[in-house]
Amino acid sequence: MDKFNFNKNISREGTYSVQYEGTDALFGRRGLEPFWIADMDIEIAEPIADAMKQRIDNRIFGYTIWQNPGFYGAVKHWWNSRFGIELRDEEISYAPSVLFTIGEVVRQHSEKGDGVILTTPSYNAFIGQLEGNERKIVDCPFIEDDNGYTFDFDHFETLCQKDDVKVYIHCNPHNPTGKVWTEDELRKIREICMANDVFLISDEIHMDFVRPKGTFVSMVELMEEGDRILVTTGLGKTFNLASIPHSYFISRDAAFRKKLNQTIGSKYGMGAANSLALTAIEAAYNECGEWVDALNSHLEENFQLIEDYIEEHMSGWLTFKKPDATYLAWISFEKSGLDDDTVHKALVEIGGIAVSPGKIYDVKKNGHFRFNVATGRERVLIGLDRIRETFEEIMGVTKK
Ligand SMILES: Cc1ncc(COP(=O)(O)O)c(C=O)c1O
Repeated sequence: MDKFNFNKNISREGTYSVQYEGTDALFGRRGLEPFWIADMDIEIAEPIADAMKQRIDNRIFGYTIWQNPGFYGAVKHWWNSRFGIELRDEEISYAPSVLFTIGEVVRQHSEKGDGVILTTPSYNAFIGQLEGNERKIVDCPFIEDDNGYTFDFDHFETLCQKDDVKVYIHCNPHNPTGKVWTEDELRKIREICMANDVFLISDEIHMDFVRPKGTFVSMVELMEEGDRILVTTGLGKTFNLASIPHSYFISRDAAFRKKLNQTIGSKYGMGAANSLALTAIEAAYNECGEWVDALNSHLEENFQLIEDYIEEHMSGWLTFKKPDATYLAWISFEKSGLDDDTVHKALVEIGGIAVSPGKIYDVKKNGHFRFNVATGRERVLIGLDRIRETFEEIMGVTKK
């Protein structure tokens, strides 16, 4: 028997899950099968649960110091054992969340009305954050061809040269496309940003979902002392801890690090850590490497299931290739010739399924949806059957 069971059916009823209990309001219909927001139906690894239970047994949750050897040691161990990167304690800082950190770095390095570059399609929360902070979204669309998405370096350089462009938010691995950037690409991005004094934020929250293992290159590898670069990440995705708020960032700019830490502590009063998150980080990063490897194999199988199913039943309408990273399937329905609104309405009303519509990621050439596969195999099949029923009906195909 497999050591870990990622196909276990666990009810999330009564947990106020956004994925389940937030779907009715967002999609305007009850009882949809949800595959949209990026969290998992998969229960946390046993060492994390045990450590958290033990911490709860102490029954005191006073203000907690994150600058401690357990936190630093766990983060350093993970980065060294997974990515071969040696970190120093002082380069690592705890912060309330990845999006909190990105928002604050954007505010510190640009003024209202300044430009911040996003490559599109883009994780929708980046778009919302820039709008919320009244920054101008400077769009650098990926070049899309039959081989997928590539970075438009010429366009990117031209944008970085503009005086009012101050920050670039890079996403690696990329949500929603699942793209993993190569060392060569990262080097070019870093060089262009540094040459044009554009602050580079690298959001690497999906870093542990890169397949095959060992192929991920972090911007940390290229970061030199004093570089205006910040890498932000956390365990919310990898270990399904999104509702235990935490994150951490890595920077080799001492003055910037100090300022950001002081701001988090004094301006926002959030200098102390979430004690359960610290406990989870230590257990996860010290004891759960094997669990993450097994989870990636499960996700790979789910992606293969989708690829095969689409090939067998829906190849006339849908295109899908397994991504190298994340647990998000970015599925194209361009071949169907159907417009976006028709497909999304039909997926909800005919299929009874909630997936993320491509348009929220500001896709130029729309015709995609994002399907979360971090669930049991049986649920993936339910989702695929519902997608198939939807397309069969709107394409006017009679069922056999
Ligand atoms: C690329 C990316 N960054 C950040 C987040 C959210 O991170 P946090 O909850 O720590 O703000 C997500 C969640 O889906 C994400 O996909």
